[in-house]
Amino acid sequence: MRRHPIFSVLGRAIPFGIAVATALVLSQPLVRAANSPVMIGGPFTLTSPDGATVTEQTYRGKWLLVYFGFTSCPDSCPTAFLEISAALEKLGPDADKLQPLFITVDPQRDTPTVMGNYTQSFDLRIVGLTGTPQQIAAVAQEYGVYYEPRKSGPGAEDYVMDHSTYLYLMDTEGEFVRGLDADTPGERIAEVVRGAMAKAR
Ligand code: NI
Repeated sequence: MRRHPIFSVLGRAIPFGIAVATALVLSQPLVRAANSPVMIGGPFTLTSPDGATVTEQTYRGKWLLVYFGFTSCPDSCPTAFLEISAALEKLGPDADKLQPLFITVDPQRDTPTVMGNYTQSFDLRIVGLTGTPQQIAAVAQEYGVYYEPRKSGPGAEDYVMDHSTYLYLMDTEGEFVRGLDADTPGERIAEVVRGAMAKAR
């Protein structure tokens, strides 16, 4: 298994707030260690592109490929979704058992409509989720996701989001299976997903 992104975050000069968030994420496994070996993921409440409220229960019974990013991301997010789309093609009928989820770390700009339009441009099977800043912070913390706005100009909308780039494969019960770097080729993603599905049978 690869390193959880939180560890690469630790290597940087990080602001105090992030350090506290990191400490919270790292302390979580101790609390939940009794019933699960890897503590990534958990309950969430978010909004789908049609405005409906969704939770982790909405997707029970499906494998999940979860990615955090934002729609105006210039590089890592489009790359990730091109590869996820390629993986879905490669998976063929097995793709029916997989639900790719895109959770925004930029809820201010990424409304449900913006999320829907974005994911549709890659593959109709990808679902984009947004929420209140508090809902996004909660789910990001559960997945150990780092994100932080960085100014790119003088205007209020002139910012990009620095964020960790990681794909989380979750099983049909919502348990973390493994992580993948977001630039993993689609063919490899499909191979990993298929392998995990076969093992779970
Ligand atoms: Ni990005």
